[in-house]
Amino acid sequence: MNLTLKIWRQKDANDKGKIVDYPVSGISPDMSFLEMLDVLNQELIEKGESPVAFDHDCREGICGTCSLYINGRAHGPATKITACQLHMRSFKDGDTIYIEPWRAKAFPVIKDLIVDRTSFDRIQQAGGFISVNTSGNTQDANAIPIEKENADKAFDAATCIGCGACVASCKNSSAMLFVSAKVSQFALLPQGQVEATDRVLNMVKQMDEEGFGNCTNTGACEVECPKGISLENIARMNREYLAASFKG
Ligand code: SF4
Ligand code: FES
Repeated sequence: MNLTLKIWRQKDANDKGKIVDYPVSGISPDMSFLEMLDVLNQELIEKGESPVAFDHDCREGICGTCSLYINGRAHGPATKITACQLHMRSFKDGDTIYIEPWRAKAFPVIKDLIVDRTSFDRIQQAGGFISVNTSGNTQDANAIPIEKENADKAFDAATCIGCGACVASCKNSSAMLFVSAKVSQFALLPQGQVEATDRVLNMVKQMDEEGFGNCTNTGACEVECPKGISLENIARMNREYLAASFKG
């Protein structure tokens, strides 16, 4: 396949940035999208040019770092997969492909296609955990019975990989789907009840301080989420927040 790539290049956070055209040829439909970028970068390095900076780690849909906006969609044209799981067979010979970074005030561009998502880390640090005494007499988690329905919903919420596609797809750059998944995975389990009030209040406070926008129930986040995180989690977080506000 021969393709034209239109890629956002930005030297650093202060650079204005621009779209640059790159022709690539000899791309196999069986290559992953990131392997196709590897081919381009190898060519750029051999020509003495700066390779395109993009985030990646696991390349198997687990780590959430491959944050690419491809042809106007977070993680590209396929649904419920990350950019690293996207294959070039999703495109046609002769296609032009636009590749841009996530766009959100709370995710500033570091370089080219890499954005700073440490705002998500700070939200997690504000309450996305449980405190357990690990001195040696910790109760086995399996000793606490949990309803199957709640266990399944908590597990589904816990599959959020923190990629930020929900923020990038939202017209308000809202982080509600991400934060609600992190709140829900604990809110549905007995182990999460001890710190439930502080958790939701602190995580929402941090979310607001980081500059994410408000949720207006458009639902683009759910459509573009590679893990299929449900809007149901946002409703749950709103209920948790309301209850915590009365208590707090
Ligand atoms: S909710 Fe979905 S889109 Fe948002 S960070 Fe989690 S996995 Fe990514
Ligand atoms: S590189 Fe880890 S999810 Fe894509």
